[in-house]
Amino acid sequence: MQAVFNSNRQSVVVLGMGGTIAGEGDDPSQTLTYQAGARSVARLMADLPLQCRAQIEATGCAVIGESVAQIDSKDIQWTHWWDLARRVVHWLDEPSVQGLVVTHGTDTLEETAWFLDQVLGHRTRFKPVVITCAMRPATAADADGPQNLADAVVVAASGAVRGVVVCVAGEVFSAQAVQKVHPTRVNAFDGGPVSHIATVHSGVFQRENPDDALPLVSQSRWDRWLTPETPIPKQPWVECVWHTGAASSQLLPLLASAGVDGVVVAATGNGTVNEEWLMQLQSMSVAGVAVRCATRCSHGALVGDKEKGQTFSGLAFYPELNAVKSRVQLCLDLL
Ligand code: SIN
Repeated sequence: MQAVFNSNRQSVVVLGMGGTIAGEGDDPSQTLTYQAGARSVARLMADLPLQCRAQIEATGCAVIGESVAQIDSKDIQWTHWWDLARRVVHWLDEPSVQGLVVTHGTDTLEETAWFLDQVLGHRTRFKPVVITCAMRPATAADADGPQNLADAVVVAASGAVRGVVVCVAGEVFSAQAVQKVHPTRVNAFDGGPVSHIATVHSGVFQRENPDDALPLVSQSRWDRWLTPETPIPKQPWVECVWHTGAASSQLLPLLASAGVDGVVVAATGNGTVNEEWLMQLQSMSVAGVAVRCATRCSHGALVGDKEKGQTFSGLAFYPELNAVKSRVQLCLDLL
């Protein structure tokens, strides 16, 4: 189903994936119990309040809506990521499309953002993909979704960003930096040390520092190969494991003997693991399991041997990626 308003030549396409932004509950005062993903994008757009419509209309862009999925993002699967990427590519290739918005659940939004960033690569160098979400369902009296959706359309239409970015609670983050840091508050995201790259308030988009580079958009292995019909590749089996105090010595050998393709260790501090885990990880690596390290700290990047791209104890890591995004990256690298 498509919903359109404005009839100008340039358009912004809104692709729906579900989430709380499309959530429905019985009681407008209730913001924590509801069904995520209950509403289509067409319904979200039809219900936008007047001030949000006015902000969108001021962009001069037509808005087209398409629901790709209506799920709670905790239920997202590998196939959903590829379905979304294929629809994004379809619309990016339309000459009249200026940019895309994706409405998504907050819980795994950062993984979808990084997945899209990686598979779309150069395809977004002139047209951004702006992901947005909400912490309160569409039925809440003080729903945050409508303004977030309007803000995301403003950003997508602005011509001032590129790549995959996330727009929430008036702030714009890069796909690499964004992370969900709070389970309930309305501004649940931050961008770590990078902070936000822009803001949008009442329909006005503003770069944080006009001299700052926009998010980098690099070529990827997939960007030229990805079409709306590309078959979905088989998902490699990659697990994310936490290294903790009193860490169990059984987990890694179990995974190795079960045939895991890769593991990402959310390691302590600056990428440390105990001696036993280090030895187990080294033997997994020798046996052909792809091993990557990340930090379980919520902020800050690992510092290690830059030339080798390894921690000081010799575990490979993806610079600047947290554990869940490292897992996405490793799945893609193993294709
Ligand atoms: C979800 O991630 O789909 C549910 C939670 C949310 O969107 O805040």
